[in-house]
Amino acid sequence: MKSYGLLLICSLTMSITIKAKIDDTVITVEWENNEAVKALSKIASESAVTINMSQYGGFEQVGPLGQSLPRNDSQTTTAPGDIVLYSGNQIVVFYGSNTWSYTRLGKITDKTEAELKTILNKEKVTLTLSANSDEPTTEPEQPEKKSLVAYFSVTHNTKTIAEYISEYTGSTLYEIVPKQPYTSEDINYSDNSSRTSIEQNDPNARPEIASTIDDIDQYDVIYLGYPIWWGQAPKIMYSFLESVTIKEDAVIVPFCTSGSSPIGMSATNLKQSANAANWLEGRRFAASTDKTTVTQWIDSLNLK
Ligand SMILES: Cc1cc2nc3c(=O)[nH]c(=O)nc-3n(C[C@H](O)[C@H](O)[C@H](O)COP(=O)(O)O)c2cc1C
Repeated sequence: MKSYGLLLICSLTMSITIKAKIDDTVITVEWENNEAVKALSKIASESAVTINMSQYGGFEQVGPLGQSLPRNDSQTTTAPGDIVLYSGNQIVVFYGSNTWSYTRLGKITDKTEAELKTILNKEKVTLTLSANSDEPTTEPEQPEKKSLVAYFSVTHNTKTIAEYISEYTGSTLYEIVPKQPYTSEDINYSDNSSRTSIEQNDPNARPEIASTIDDIDQYDVIYLGYPIWWGQAPKIMYSFLESVTIKEDAVIVPFCTSGSSPIGMSATNLKQSANAANWLEGRRFAASTDKTTVTQWIDSLNLK
């Protein structure tokens, strides 16, 4: 009888060890294990990164990276030694504290608060980052992320973008279908008594959905698409989010189509109806957006 050995599938991945220096002082940093740091490590392994920083607010040094990293911003109160990403492309090193929306990158672990003040409390400093790409470690391969595109669309503009995303990412496509379909009279925004006018003006309106979605908690990434109706998401999007339990650490990527309005507060308001914490900023598309623009945006999210 043949016997088969157990095949362990592993992949070579880079450990996150980015060396850091502020002016001439070497600092030890405990880096976060997130997409932003992975991307930063990759950049720093290609060639050392020099960030010219300026003092701001009496509590931080901030400077441009020169490119954007994937962000996962959340309201954060920083402590001395914290290193964060601000606005996707600015690196901030704290010697004091501030509360703002940041993506955490790491924490300086080998300096006291007083030492940090001495190093950082000056008009300008230079942060240098370098990473070794020649130290591969063997780590179990991460299971592939499962993704879903859940969308609502009446006149098919959002549907087209949803299909581009689904095709490009291999995501499951799920249409949020209203139990009572929207007629052209229903979506007449010039009529104050049309169905959409009434629903959008009623904070408690939750139009019914025709079918339920199975096992939504299997998805790690959920692209959530809708048209803008008077600057907001249609109320059926609230019906959807309030009727499902999304995996707690899932990433939600809102997207919308509109005549001209930005995604603005529509996604921020929707977020309050979802249990998942990781909402990305989201993106608005015009009805005529081509597939390349959509796929470039997906690449920039670095979610694969
Ligand atoms: C009831 C209603 C309200 C709308 N309100 C806005 C708006 O506030 N801002 C905007 O730019 N477009 C607005 N639009 C245009 C839609 O956002 C746009 O046509 C969208 O692409 C439609 O998506 P769909 O084809 O997926 O249904 C509105 C359309 C309707 C029907």
